[in-house]
Amino acid sequence: MKLQGSLIRPLVRELHAYVPGEQPKIKGLIKLNTNENPYPPAPKVLRAVKAAVDGRLRLYPNPTAERLREKLARLHGGAPDHIIVGNGSDELLALAVRGFVEPAGAPSSNAASFRKASSKAGASRSNCTVQYFTPSYSLYPVLADIHGAAKNAVPLKPDFSLPSGAELKRGKLWDFDAALTLVTTPNAPSGRGYSTKELATLCRAQRGVVVLDEAYVDFANENALELALNHPRVLVARTFSKAYSLCFQRVGYFVGHPELIAALHKIRDSYNVNGLGQIAAEATLDDLPYYRVNFQKIIATREKLSRELTKLGFRVLPSQTNFILAKPPLFPANEWLQKLRDRKILVRWFSAPEVSDYLRITIGTKAEAEAMIGAVKKIAG
Ligand SMILES: Cc1ncc(COP(=O)(O)O)c(C=O)c1O
Repeated sequence: MKLQGSLIRPLVRELHAYVPGEQPKIKGLIKLNTNENPYPPAPKVLRAVKAAVDGRLRLYPNPTAERLREKLARLHGGAPDHIIVGNGSDELLALAVRGFVEPAGAPSSNAASFRKASSKAGASRSNCTVQYFTPSYSLYPVLADIHGAAKNAVPLKPDFSLPSGAELKRGKLWDFDAALTLVTTPNAPSGRGYSTKELATLCRAQRGVVVLDEAYVDFANENALELALNHPRVLVARTFSKAYSLCFQRVGYFVGHPELIAALHKIRDSYNVNGLGQIAAEATLDDLPYYRVNFQKIIATREKLSRELTKLGFRVLPSQTNFILAKPPLFPANEWLQKLRDRKILVRWFSAPEVSDYLRITIGTKAEAEAMIGAVKKIAG
């Protein structure tokens, strides 16, 4: 039965929702499409989660993930009030938009509709702006749209490096007053890493909040955590999903100035982090050497796969993440997507023009990389 009239807000009706990577249940599928870790969580983590599955499931979990925040504070050299834990870092990115950005009331960044809506609310455009580079994590514009914020999408350089401060000033697109700037570092989907020095320069020039989204940082040469601990407007986002094999449990966190963190605590759900997730993440921090071995394995496979694909005519961009972005030869990238899928290898293709010539390939096990190379050789004939 169709509903009469609309019960749904115009903003939601017009919204283009985020499209997550597929999770198909195909037997024997080599799944290289969502940057999951090919290695399981540490045995200690599995034991801790199993041991917690009993009658205690009837109880609410700790509302602030207190023990986990204490452990994270010890690991990163801050205090627990520098940290908020979320239901994945996605939840915290959404909270940052809600906590730091005024809604402009417009479902798009269209300047005319913004002016009409915001003049009523007495807001300035920068106060209502979520700013990010393109390409970067494709969730950011969706979060801005959900909130009715204005979007300022500024292109990275053609090789996906960061424009310098002078280039941003000259380009005139960049808003140094944007309420919230989101930077994926290392970048997704390009895989390019950024130095802490250039990120520090970028952060210092901003007058609003900057979130450095370090979802893939464990596979990179540098991290920018010191900026979150020393710079009052910078938050660093981390996740247990990618490097720590815990996508299923949904645990991420922000590190930053206690006043920013306290603001986000005010607007989160009371029990936003499930109990088993808290237990799994705590046990993860007790066994970091296990994960560091996996990072090295993934990095070694990444480098080998990049070399092999290059030999086969792919243009592979240098990566500091657990995936590579590669421009295939002979056929368009979306044809390769299908041809690989026919051979039970699932990779990711994005239709955005800056990256539509490329495939994003998650780094799996050594055997999965070999299967990928075998399939590419067959497809290329
Ligand atoms: C750049 C980036 N940030 C954040 C996330 C979200 O991670 P989580 O699983 O912690 O929500 C992802 C996941 O794909 C990502 O690619």
